[in-house]
Amino acid sequence: MTRPVDIINAHLNRPIVMLGLMGAGKTKVGGLLAQHLGLPFVDADHEIELAASMSISDIFETHGEPAFRDLERKVITRLMSDDIKVIAPGGGAIMNPQTADLIFAKALTVWLKADLDILVERTGRNEKRPLLKGGNREDILGNLMKQRYPVYERAEVHLQTDASAPEIAAERLLIKLAEHLKENS
Ligand code: S3P
Repeated sequence: MTRPVDIINAHLNRPIVMLGLMGAGKTKVGGLLAQHLGLPFVDADHEIELAASMSISDIFETHGEPAFRDLERKVITRLMSDDIKVIAPGGGAIMNPQTADLIFAKALTVWLKADLDILVERTGRNEKRPLLKGGNREDILGNLMKQRYPVYERAEVHLQTDASAPEIAAERLLIKLAEHLKENS
């Protein structure tokens, strides 16, 4: 039987972009996926921090969210223009219509879905996320679900994750991607 990794590598001709809310596992699962496929992995927030020489929190605090979103759009446009890779943008990037047009036209999109209690637990592990500072995480994430799920829904591959390790989610994702590419290539 052909392995999912071989099926994916035989068909993949565009970048894979991970979508989902904060805490859904985009960076961890995306990184593992890239490792399995032998592809580069890029975390867009990390690239933004390099470009600005500032942390995401400091960009929000010093320049405000609109400036962050503008930089985010530029960085993602650059990342999308090079070789095939796995990209994990921040969860809000796809809400910019230009970024969404680009990603949905040029990438294979994956929505990592997780229940609210899991997102609340995972995002509570650190204080890095400016949108969650000084508020009730459950309320904020619940509201973001309402705003963003209609856009995440457009992803080609949906993966419901649970409390299992990211390695398990990555294995499941490989199978889903292989099935999707086999059916749609
Ligand atoms: C954001 C998500 C964060 C980061 C920023 C804003 C969002 O990335 O880009 O704090 O709007 O959902 P992660 O989704 O990787 O946490």
